[in-house]
Amino acid sequence: MAGKAQAATKAATGDTPIGPTGRPYQGFPTPPKLDGHGPARIIALCNQKGGVGKTTTTINLAAALAGYGRKVLAVDFDPQGALSAGLGIQTHDIPTIYDLLLDGKRDPHEVIVHTRVDNLDVIPANIDLSAAEVHLVNEVAREQTLSRALRKLTGDYDVILIDCQPSLGLLTVNALTASHGVVIPLECEFFALRGVAMLIETIDKVRDRLNPTITLDGVLATMYDARTLHSREVLERVVDAFGDDVLETVIGRTVKFPDASVSGMPITEFAPEHAAAQAYLRLARELVARGAVA
Ligand SMILES: Nc1ncnc2c1ncn2[C@@H]1O[C@H](COP(=O)(O)OP(=O)(O)OP(=O)(O)O)[C@@H](O)[C@H]1O
Ligand SMILES: [Mg+2]
Repeated sequence: MAGKAQAATKAATGDTPIGPTGRPYQGFPTPPKLDGHGPARIIALCNQKGGVGKTTTTINLAAALAGYGRKVLAVDFDPQGALSAGLGIQTHDIPTIYDLLLDGKRDPHEVIVHTRVDNLDVIPANIDLSAAEVHLVNEVAREQTLSRALRKLTGDYDVILIDCQPSLGLLTVNALTASHGVVIPLECEFFALRGVAMLIETIDKVRDRLNPTITLDGVLATMYDARTLHSREVLERVVDAFGDDVLETVIGRTVKFPDASVSGMPITEFAPEHAAAQAYLRLARELVARGAVA
C-alpha cells in the first residue's frame, strides 16, 4: 500500500519520466527466447505519403528483431528498391519480388537473399516491379497475389515485414491483403495527418472485402525533434487522433539514418550505441510486448 502511494506521489511530483506521447516512460522487457520458429506474423509498413520513414523503419526494425533472435524476412515492395539498397543488396541481375508476382509456380525460396545480419533475409525489388500493376490487373484474385507467394514462406520465419511504396495502388492493396497487421509511420511535421484518413479508409476497405482480420498494430512517430515546439505539437495531435494506437517508442530525427543507408547497413550495426539504434531496439521490444510479434 505504502509502495503504491509512493509511486503515485512520484508520478504526481514528476519523478516518473513521461514519454513523448504523454504516457509514463517504459523500457519494455527483453523479448524471451523462442523455442522454435514460425508461423510468421506479417506486418505491412504503410503510408502513401513519401519520405516518412517506411523503409528506414522496415530495415531497422527488421534488424532489431533479428538481433532478438527472431527469424525475419523483409520484403522490398517498392520499385525504387530502397530497402534492398539500404541492406547493401545489388538488384540489377537477380530474381526479385516481381518474378514471384508474375510466376505463381516459382519457388519463393529462390528469390530470398541472406543479409550479413544474422536471422535477416530479404526479398529484393528493383524497377521491374513498376510494371507489376499492369500485369496484375487482368489476373484472377489480383489482390491476393503477394499473399499467395508469401504463404509458402511463413513457416520459416517469425515475422515478415513488407516495405510498401508511397501509393495506395494495387501493390499496396496486395501488401495489406497479405498482412496480419499494419504499422503506419508518420513524420512529425505539419502535414503528417494529411492523407491518413484515406489510408485508414483503404485499410477498412481491405478488411471489409479481402482480409477481415487485419489490425492496426500501431502508428509510429518518426523524425521527432524534442527541441522544437513544432514536433511536440504535431505528436500531440497524432496522439489526439490515434490515442493508444500511437506507439510509445518515437524515432528521433538524426543524420545517422541517411549515413547508415549509404553504408548499406542497419543502424543497429552501423552505430549500435547511437540513440537511433536504441530507439529501434525499443520499438522491437514494444511490438513484442504488444503481441504484434512473437
Ligand atoms: N529518423 C530519421 N531522421 C532523419 N532522417 C531520416 C529518419 N528516418 C528516415 N530518414 C531519412 O529520410 C529519408 C526518407 O526516409 P525513408 O526512405 O525511410 O522514407 P520512406 O517513407 O520509405 O520513403 P518513400 O515513400 O520514398 O519510400 C531518407 O533519406 C532517410 O534516410
Ligand atoms: Mg521507402
